Amino acid sequence: MTIAVTPDTLSTNEFKSCCQVRERSPDPLIKAQGLAYVVLQRPDLDRAADFFTSFGLLTSHRTSQRILMRGRTSEHHILVLEKGPARYARMGLYAERESLDTLSTKLGLPVEKHDPELGGEYVTLTDPAGLTIEVNAGLRSLPDIEKPAANPWNLSDHKPRINRTVRKQVAPVQVHKLGHTVHSVSDIKGTIEWYQDTLGMIVSDFQLLNQEEIPSVAFMRCDRGDIPVDHHTIALGLTPELGHLHTAFELDSMEEIAIAQEWLQKQDYTHSWGIGRHILGSQIFDYWRDPDGDLFEHYADGDLFDSSVATGYHPFHKDAQHQWGPHMSADFAGTNHPWRMLKSVVRRLFNKDDLNLARIKKLNKALN
Ligand SMILES: [Fe+2]
Repeated sequence: MTIAVTPDTLSTNEFKSCCQVRERSPDPLIKAQGLAYVVLQRPDLDRAADFFTSFGLLTSHRTSQRILMRGRTSEHHILVLEKGPARYARMGLYAERESLDTLSTKLGLPVEKHDPELGGEYVTLTDPAGLTIEVNAGLRSLPDIEKPAANPWNLSDHKPRINRTVRKQVAPVQVHKLGHTVHSVSDIKGTIEWYQDTLGMIVSDFQLLNQEEIPSVAFMRCDRGDIPVDHHTIALGLTPELGHLHTAFELDSMEEIAIAQEWLQKQDYTHSWGIGRHILGSQIFDYWRDPDGDLFEHYADGDLFDSSVATGYHPFHKDAQHQWGPHMSADFAGTNHPWRMLKSVVRRLFNKDDLNLARIKKLNKALN
């Protein structure tokens, strides 16, 4: 276990004065309310469902072409597995019903009906990175699944559990809900500002390299006024390989994360990084690869912010993602596939892209 050390960097105000990306939109089109689901295409649906069952999700509906999975909350589906070549197909957000009409009128897009199994209506958007986003209202719901009673924790100065023992089984845990999804994009300023202008998202925290005008990471939350929301629902990064970086599901406690780790290890799934505690968002985390190589996070004890919290500015370096825990793994950083990374970098250098040579040099210095 290591304690992360912050290297010498610019002060918060200096990062803020360099950053040329705004914190929130003065007049967003709508305000998204939260992350509803992610849709993954998988060539072998049974294999994918086995992984996500071990990860802690439950099947709410299944056909030969599609599996819908839920957590403990009333949402009928937070993960959709569709038959097809492995890829992250799209994400779904929640919005008020009238927001769908606003999107339809202002952007000239149809409000469509989901099939009865999914329920509700949606408008399909495409972000500047080419990611498909469905903005939903009225999705189908189910009764909540009751949480197992928690054992009172005997603290050093307060010991409520007397004459009672604790017995835990190493078995699949129960995911509570879908938390956030993280993507690497080629135009980080344009993409952040699209999420602000179109969906009303607020940047909770930026991470920047020294003297940079654009961030390396932006953690964005929904704007629900004085209702507290997760520190980030969507995060955007400027990393060598484009596309989906990870998607996170909430568990109840650090002990559940540890039990899940032992269970997933017993099933021979591939561990990526953890257990540790993030800095921005404060979550206890543990990362796993599914059989198709995509990354998924278990987290617990994340921060909640309402819309009054100001945007934070922070340095980006190799220890900037965790307060304690093991060093970031090569798997999580992507450096265990150097040729794949190099291929992506070379391709991007020939495109109009934020990843130029000067930035690669800075990134390399910050991460080493
Ligand atoms: Fe995460």
